[in-house]
Amino acid sequence: PPYNVGYFVGSLATASINRTLSKALIRLAPDGLEFTEIAIRDLPLYSYDYDGDYPPVAREFKQAVKSSDAILFVTPEYNRSIPGGLKNAIDWASRPWGQNSLSRKPSAVIGASPGHLGTAVAQQNLKSVLSFCDSPQMNAPEAYIHMTPGLITDDGEVTNDGTAAFLRNFMDEFYMFIERVLTVVPRPEH
Ligand code: FNR
Repeated sequence: PPYNVGYFVGSLATASINRTLSKALIRLAPDGLEFTEIAIRDLPLYSYDYDGDYPPVAREFKQAVKSSDAILFVTPEYNRSIPGGLKNAIDWASRPWGQNSLSRKPSAVIGASPGHLGTAVAQQNLKSVLSFCDSPQMNAPEAYIHMTPGLITDDGEVTNDGTAAFLRNFMDEFYMFIERVLTVVPRPEH
């Protein structure tokens, strides 16, 4: 069956290279994956004061996570970690206690940077957070994208054949990972 992948773009910048990367990934993904962006921009800063009564924007956000078969994180690295906005969104998703929307939700992490490390350190941090949130993660392949000018056009076309093949393989592997997780241990309905 087609799987519904909710994706997070960790950047709020209008010219985000990670948003550009997300467009490329959607274009290269196999037919069995459908994509819905889960927006993080309008979430207030999380506090457990909200736990008794989540605001509508946070309820919608949590519902979007819950109704996704899997989650794809496409994120920049800020100061060797993930952007605060993305961490804030994950905190919203993980609460109230006992209602962690990421629990048992298969995920994958990818990111782009103009630097040579290609968000490797941020991804390690994110993977720790997702481990604590009980999200089964695709361990391999890893993808640390060193973004150079023109590598991906504004509408998400990858101009380098090797990079396109690499990203296509990443998405094929993600499809197979989702299928393994959801087939072996079907997720109960919520
Ligand atoms: C950066 N950048 C950056 N790059 C990196 O590879 N490692 C890092 O730790 C950081 N730190 C960092 C902090 C802050 C506050 C900013 C604004 C930027 C550079 C970053 O990779 C670059 O701005 C990318 O364009 C960010 O991705 P988006 O937002 O364009 O998707």
